[in-house]
Amino acid sequence: MVVIQWFPGHMSKARRQVQENLKHVDLVMELVDARLPLSSRNPMLDKIIGTKPRLVIINKKDLGDDLEIQKWVHYFEAQGILAVKINAKEQQTVKKLTKAAKEVLEEKIKRASERGIQNKAIRTMIIGIPNVGKSTLMNRLAGKKIAITGNKPGVTKGQQWLKTNEELEILDTPGILWPKFEDQKVGLKLALTGAIKDDLIPKDEITIFGLDFFKANYPDELQHRFKLTDDQMSLSAVDLIILLTQKYGFRDDYDRFYDLFIKDVRDSKLGTYTLDRVSDLDKEDTQDDND
Ligand code: G4P
Repeated sequence: MVVIQWFPGHMSKARRQVQENLKHVDLVMELVDARLPLSSRNPMLDKIIGTKPRLVIINKKDLGDDLEIQKWVHYFEAQGILAVKINAKEQQTVKKLTKAAKEVLEEKIKRASERGIQNKAIRTMIIGIPNVGKSTLMNRLAGKKIAITGNKPGVTKGQQWLKTNEELEILDTPGILWPKFEDQKVGLKLALTGAIKDDLIPKDEITIFGLDFFKANYPDELQHRFKLTDDQMSLSAVDLIILLTQKYGFRDDYDRFYDLFIKDVRDSKLGTYTLDRVSDLDKEDTQDDND
């Protein structure tokens, strides 16, 4: 797992590098995590890529909640952005993304064809925050294990293209950008899925957030996993922590329960889940208006 300490200097270098590479591609593939289709996006991506054609790739679909992922696909579609859900580890991903890339660039390909330019491979680059699966996807698209170095600010080299097939080529350097970590809720979500370093947010806060989230959205999975009675399901997150820590025989070592719970969530022991909800967007908008 790539762990990057983001400082303003790193951010502007990463941004510059992406903008430099953008000049060479026809299409940007923005990779997000199916458990966090919004929180795993870079807050400045729209500004950074401007009008460059874009395909949103919702990766790790095997870990996300299918119904919620579908809502996100529609959400992006409503903004005129094609979004596809994939599992970067699956072979069929190659076909799916080649088809989607051609769909995004349909008009451009048609115009080129009218000018006599045909069968030119689409050049693309993959952009995303750490841990969304950029390396896994690039290996899949390149059909081999490749050493991916990411942004090395200050190192300039010629563009290297990885050939997927006759129709698609990928820049060998992915754009690694930062998450929206200044938003506390986003930080909790990133931490719960393991997208950011474990010591950035206290584990008790992550656990309380996670218990509340599963209680509200996936109560059956929570109840089943921890064998809770109906009465216990109405306990607050803090009371549940006290109860379960004792139940597991950890005495008052709450840290051991935090570790167990967080690992369970990350390992999908409470089932597949999506922490960002399209239905929350309206509520957040109303809240912003009231602030
Ligand atoms: P990055 O380059 O964007 O930083 O991400 P990377 O490819 O290193 O992937 C981060 C983790 O996510 C890896 O797990 C990788 O296997 C996993 N991953 C990527 N795509 C998918 C997917 O579609 N589904 C699932 N379930 N996992 C995915 P890891 O535990 O860090 O390493 P390892 O399990 O590969 O050893």
